[in-house]
Amino acid sequence: MSPGDLDQILCGLDLPTDANLIAGAATGEDAGVYRLNDDTALIQTVDFFTPIVDDPYHFGQVAAANALSDVYAMGGKPLLAMNLVAFPIKELHRSVLQEILRGGLDKIKEAGALLVGGHSIEDAELKYGLSVTGVVHPDRVVLNSGARVGDLLLLTKPLGIGILATALKGGLAGKETEALITQVMATLNREAAQLMQTIGAHACTDITGFGLVGHLYEMALASGVAIRVDSRAVPVLPEALNYAAMGIIPEGAHKNKAFYAPHMHSALEEFDPMEMVLCDPQTSGGLLIAASAERINAMAEGLGKGGYSLAFGIIGEVVAGRPGTIEIV
Ligand code: CO
Ligand code: CO
Repeated sequence: MSPGDLDQILCGLDLPTDANLIAGAATGEDAGVYRLNDDTALIQTVDFFTPIVDDPYHFGQVAAANALSDVYAMGGKPLLAMNLVAFPIKELHRSVLQEILRGGLDKIKEAGALLVGGHSIEDAELKYGLSVTGVVHPDRVVLNSGARVGDLLLLTKPLGIGILATALKGGLAGKETEALITQVMATLNREAAQLMQTIGAHACTDITGFGLVGHLYEMALASGVAIRVDSRAVPVLPEALNYAAMGIIPEGAHKNKAFYAPHMHSALEEFDPMEMVLCDPQTSGGLLIAASAERINAMAEGLGKGGYSLAFGIIGEVVAGRPGTIEIV
């Protein structure tokens, strides 16, 4: 589906409301959040997809890290997870599924959560993911809509996963690239979420299929602000800009660019490959966090000191302007 398709369909439905519902289907948040009492709110999310890497164990890790990420994006802590499996049992050996589930379980354990069940169906196309339940203090839920003018923006993983995956599929990139994007996608957004909890943030989301530009737009629109991105400060995976310059660009990046173009004001030169990197759809991408300059600097320092292994950067600031406008300099 194109960005916005599901939102449009949901808006046509009569969605229930509840005084304890902190984030529901109508607000475009990363997960649903429901206040149980003064100390605890429940976070619920679900995500699954077709393999993005060939190795079944790695695919399991990536799919689980991706599903867990929406709990982290709300500032929460995952508690329970369930497997969602669609598997072509006549074509693939059981051991493939076993490896996928082993990869997923390793990430669930790393997150400090428990696997408590799941559901599987036979399907022509392999799919795997998780439903995840998490918790957060109701006063410390980090919504997408809280960014304030003057805030800085922290991005906790480098961009370019979609471009490099396309280069891999086309046989242009090799094992090293596969290992690199697997590591990036399988890295939990836990560290960044914990820093948000201790330091405090105004807004957060995780970067997935809509690309950085799409998720910036969603945050800016929901917060009633504009965002200025310093493209030179955006962390990018090695070779991603080179492949983008060669035209190795996933279909989704073109779709994102066309969809968000009316909201983008770019000072980049025409055909600058950076523009496609900013629109590149990510799988299990990093957190995009908005907070005061002091707090963003403290989070960046915390990530650096904590031995966090991926590239991250303070990529821009929240400014006054027409809500949803993305200025790229
Ligand atoms: Co999300
Ligand atoms: Co999601």
